[in-house]
Amino acid sequence: MSSLNLLFFVLIFTALPHPFVSKLEGIDVLLDRLDSKRVNSSVQESAAKAVLQRLLPTHVNSFQFKIVSKDVCGGSSCFLIDNYKRTSQNEPEITIKGTTAVEITSGLHWYIKYWCGAHVSWEKTGGFQIVSVPKPGSLPHVTDGGVKIQRPVPWNYYQNVVTSSYSYVWWEWERWEKEIDWMALQGINLPLAFNGQEAIWQKVFMNFNVTMEDLNDFFSGPAFLAWARMGNLHGWGGPLAQNWLNQQLVLQKKIVSRMLELGMTPVLPSFAGNVPAALKKIFPSANITRLGDWNTVDRNPRWCCTYLLDPTDPLFVEIGEAFIKQQILEYGDVTDIYNCDTFNENTPPTNDTNYISSLGAAVYKAMSEGDKDAVWLMQGWLFYSDSAFWKPPQMKALLHSVPLGKMIVLDLFAEVKPIWRTSSQFYGAPYVWCMLHNFGGNIEIYGILDSIASGPVDARVSENSTMVGVGMCMEGIEQNPVVYELMSEMAFRNEKVQVLEWLKTYAHRRYGKAVPEVEATWEILYHTVYNCTDGIADHNTDFIVKFPDWDPSLLSGSAISKRDQMHALHALPGPRRFLSEENSDMPQAHLWYSNQELIKGLKLFLNAGNALAGCATYRYDLVDITRQALSKLANQVYMDAVIAFQHKDASAFNIHSQKFLQLIKDIDELLASNDNFLLGTWLESAKKLATNPSEMIQYEYNARTQVTMWYDTNITTQSKLHDYANKFWSGLLVDYYLPRASTYFDYMSKSLREKSEFQVDRWRQQWVFISISWQSNWKTGTKNYPIRAKGDSIAIAKVLYDKYFGQQLIK
Ligand SMILES: *[C@@H]1O[C@H](CO)[C@@H](O)[C@H](O)[C@H]1NC(C)=O
Ligand SMILES: *[C@@H]1O[C@H](CO)[C@@H](O)[C@H](O)[C@H]1NC(C)=O
Ligand SMILES: *[C@@H]1O[C@H](CO)[C@@H](O)[C@H](O)[C@H]1NC(C)=O
Ligand SMILES: *[C@@H]1O[C@H](CO)[C@@H](O)[C@H](O)[C@H]1NC(C)=O
Ligand SMILES: *[C@@H]1O[C@H](CO)[C@@H](O)[C@H](O)[C@H]1NC(C)=O
Ligand SMILES: *[C@@H]1O[C@H](CO)[C@@H](O)[C@H](O)[C@H]1NC(C)=O
Ligand SMILES: *[C@@H]1O[C@H](CO)[C@@H](O)[C@H](O)[C@H]1NC(C)=O
Repeated sequence: MSSLNLLFFVLIFTALPHPFVSKLEGIDVLLDRLDSKRVNSSVQESAAKAVLQRLLPTHVNSFQFKIVSKDVCGGSSCFLIDNYKRTSQNEPEITIKGTTAVEITSGLHWYIKYWCGAHVSWEKTGGFQIVSVPKPGSLPHVTDGGVKIQRPVPWNYYQNVVTSSYSYVWWEWERWEKEIDWMALQGINLPLAFNGQEAIWQKVFMNFNVTMEDLNDFFSGPAFLAWARMGNLHGWGGPLAQNWLNQQLVLQKKIVSRMLELGMTPVLPSFAGNVPAALKKIFPSANITRLGDWNTVDRNPRWCCTYLLDPTDPLFVEIGEAFIKQQILEYGDVTDIYNCDTFNENTPPTNDTNYISSLGAAVYKAMSEGDKDAVWLMQGWLFYSDSAFWKPPQMKALLHSVPLGKMIVLDLFAEVKPIWRTSSQFYGAPYVWCMLHNFGGNIEIYGILDSIASGPVDARVSENSTMVGVGMCMEGIEQNPVVYELMSEMAFRNEKVQVLEWLKTYAHRRYGKAVPEVEATWEILYHTVYNCTDGIADHNTDFIVKFPDWDPSLLSGSAISKRDQMHALHALPGPRRFLSEENSDMPQAHLWYSNQELIKGLKLFLNAGNALAGCATYRYDLVDITRQALSKLANQVYMDAVIAFQHKDASAFNIHSQKFLQLIKDIDELLASNDNFLLGTWLESAKKLATNPSEMIQYEYNARTQVTMWYDTNITTQSKLHDYANKFWSGLLVDYYLPRASTYFDYMSKSLREKSEFQVDRWRQQWVFISISWQSNWKTGTKNYPIRAKGDSIAIAKVLYDKYFGQQLIK
């Protein structure tokens, strides 16, 4: 019964009514206008029913759904859950009312979570746990008088402009439908809708006399579209086949329709000034400048240095307006909110505030000429990444360049570096408190649960707050489900969440059972991997997936002695460790917690294996935690190998380097035992979209390249972006990371044997060669990777635990 008490506890604190009444100019008007555009109640009710049908087909008749007006909740968005007064067996049991279909499905999610102990996560993170939902006819009653939950802020935003490339690029409608269901259940009502925009650009630019050939050089390949859209690169991985353009537009129309049926407001793209090179010839008098290099190896103009049309040029407004109008023509009048990131990683030529104001005004003008009610949604990343340029006067100039309420800013990395605090609430502009959390779709157990559970509340109740939403802006999805569930809940939380208590109910729901060892594991996870307070943006920099590109003979003596001290420290209990000190010349892998603590958690988790063996969510988490513990161990082992090399101790070097390679093989075998960690899935989904053999070759090349070298190489050097989107996937470990590490160690071994220099250049050349040949294997015959798991994760995790951590924990 303890979990029921907890439920009660949770609910009192969420049911307090705090209607959102905006003091911000323009926001109420915007909300009313968006409400008036929504599809009618019967369409939304059916759309919500269809979500239920896909989630819990056995219970379709157990629920009654009803759209209600915001008046029911004093003018804000809300859902209400009531017991249905049944007079016969055929009638529903529970009524859920909501101000849109998203609120209804959020209410459904809330009900199955907090009354039925169910759990919803992405299929690739273990999926649903709905075994705990009682049979139709015996659904639990809610508290007398019902449950009423209001949104503290009107919006729940979702996506980063790069998620479309890192996560969604190969998706077909079947997968999109599941994602939109997931969004609806999490309460997301303001998602980006970025698919198919190249088809729109094609139509627009061709009206400006740009040819298809010009566009081939402008668009990138499918896996890199996000960066072509931002003007970071062009042509890379391309050209886009007409099939692709058409397919994606058809897909986008389905996506947008479904979003609308559920009462969401899609955010569409708008013109940021990036234009095909040919435009300069067609409009010789237009002010088109060439941008600098962005991460190529050698400034190859084939990929780098795109063209930007100055926003103050009259042509900018013409193109911007045409683009918005073309979208309205294709999709109808479906939104007023448009994303535009003209200044992302693109510093304006001068810090003159009048100039910045005129730029902002021009960008907005192009948008509003296309849609008179347009509102500009801007990622606030520039204020973080380019803070040297965006000082208060420049920020103010940009934020005030449009009428108040016509621009909404995303405080993109608010869980770590909240800009609202240092900018007097974005100088009065409305903003969305966003969690960024993930870079490159890397797989790493990481998060800051306390910050998520309190940050949005602190922001909203702060004096003169201009916060109008919460959001999730991760670069890649399908990882760390706990983080995304908690963050989504913040869209309905008026008070801070007590994380430890919440995690107990989470663990119960996720696995469908209360298991004490598992609760204890989650407590450890909470204090370790999920409490990253070092302010570092977490990319997975573990040496297996991001192998250090350096010469180990450069390691200084002082670093070694520090390292030896670290070894001594390692045995002692203590909360935090770093692999190496600041300023040391050793490579760094991000470590913000004690791996020893995590290993204790892993042991507890493994012990629960018998009770949870049939549970997909448990198996996913087990593989993930084991992977993380082994990967951090591998970082240590790599260092041990380097130290042995320094001491010219060939036999110790041999032991440590072999252990590192063995770890890669063992982790690959572990990952191979779970469907959710397979390279094959990614590659097959890319190939499946191809309509002919040449597209097949291109899509597979795109898929393989993004997760490895990312960008171009010459024969001696790789782009700085290599491994940015690294993945712990079976197949990638044995066939890519393993040969890379193995070659490196061969050179170290040779250097010891022959008492010669370590040849870092030779090794790098060979690494680049391996990468290129691995990626271009398609020329000679494409290796297929499994898309189904093999082996028993629990048995494998146990063997690996004993092999690597067995002795350490005997007390
Ligand atoms: C709701 O909209 C749908 C689709 O536009 C239409 O077919 C239906 O008749 C409308 N229903 C009501 C009650 O207005
Ligand atoms: C495109 O070319 C045609 C034919 O040369 C010309 O009439 C038209 O004005 C051009 N359109 C634009 C937008 O420049
Ligand atoms: C590869 O690119 C690097 C970095 O631009 C450059 O220093 C090097 O000379 C290039 N190598 C070759 C073979 O072109
Ligand atoms: C052209 O655009 C550049 C960069 O946006 C700007 O610095 C310059 O002042 C503009 N020139 C004219 C003549 O407007
Ligand atoms: C622009 O930058 C210059 C040089 O860094 C500085 O002196 C000046 O005060 C800045 N102007 C504004 C408006 O911030
Ligand atoms: C809030 O706004 C009022 C009125 O503009 C102002 O006097 C006050 O200083 C502001 N408070 C903060 C913390 O900025
Ligand atoms: C997280 O770490 C911070 C800083 O070390 C510490 O103050 C805090 O208590 C920790 N929180 C949890 C949940 O362990």
